[in-house]
Amino acid sequence: MKPRRSNLSVPGHIEKMHGKALASNADVIMLDLEDSVPVDAKEKARAQVIRSLLDLDWTGKTVTVRINSLDTPFAYRDLLEVVENGGHILDAIVVPKVNAPGDISFVDRMLDGIEMNKKLSPHLGIEVSIETAEGLLKSAAIGRESNRLQTFVFGIADYSASVGARLVSISGHGEKEEDLYPGHRWHFALSRMIMAAKANRCLAIDAPYGNFRDPEGLRRSATMSCALGCDGKWAIHPDQIDIINEVFTPSPKDIELAARVLEADANAAAEGRGAVAVDGRMVDQATVRMAKQLWEQARYLKLTRT
Ligand code: COA
Ligand code: MG
Repeated sequence: MKPRRSNLSVPGHIEKMHGKALASNADVIMLDLEDSVPVDAKEKARAQVIRSLLDLDWTGKTVTVRINSLDTPFAYRDLLEVVENGGHILDAIVVPKVNAPGDISFVDRMLDGIEMNKKLSPHLGIEVSIETAEGLLKSAAIGRESNRLQTFVFGIADYSASVGARLVSISGHGEKEEDLYPGHRWHFALSRMIMAAKANRCLAIDAPYGNFRDPEGLRRSATMSCALGCDGKWAIHPDQIDIINEVFTPSPKDIELAARVLEADANAAAEGRGAVAVDGRMVDQATVRMAKQLWEQARYLKLTRT
């Protein structure tokens, strides 16, 4: 799978933002039909998204569409019309407010049918948005429901509403959390989602950070979710992309460290040892697995010489 470090959400009905998003450095561009689109613009947004998929050149980009949630009158038409007309361009469908495995099997079977009818090679992936108490509770089973699943994303504001957590900032998207709760307020929920994603060989994506004029807050939020095991973060504004890409890209220092761990391991193996000391720290096979993972990620992003 291509990197999914930054995922820019773009309101489906605002055409001028589509070209702007395409020209950005976002790894993923998500054309949104759900919560950034007012109810009376749903049809217009769907038609605009289809037009943008067909008219703009998305070569080399990962592009997704977020449909409306399955408990609305819009979702089935979003899926049908967007995939029938633009499915050959899309990489994945983002399904919001997934509550149960059945939600995913519905989308999966619809995609089967549309792909057969339109003679598309079966390729469309699914991003699962976990943003309700029920969805988080069932996230492990949701993750097993379809082999189309590629990514899990944490919907912070809807999840807060779902569990009745207090609103701290005007946006409700991750800002000033530490004023209310010491540490990482979403540590448990995010970690649980990450566990479900990784147990099902999917990537885990963090929620967006609502204050797009606060680069330091964004960096802190991204760094924390990266430390927990996330592979990327949603963005709601183009100014957020570079910081997110940077945080989720292994730094030269990380790569050098991983190389030294792998070298020490190769030497240790030649001496018949599983654990060795490097700079006065123990390096064992668990350290080696982390280093290998980082090395592979860096190699994928063409940051290593070999
Ligand atoms: N995608 C593409 N372009 C965007 C963008 C986005 N998500 N957000 C802003 N831009 C563009 C603006 O159109 C503007 O372009 P211009 O200079 O050509 O006029 C430029 O970036 C600067 O925008 P700015 O004036 O700083 O922001 P704003 O006040 O117009 O919009 C938001 C702020 C938050 C309303 C807007 O960023 C937005 O709609 N974000 C997406 C929200 C969303 O998708 N929510 C659902 C997922 S949680
Ligand atoms: Mg939401």
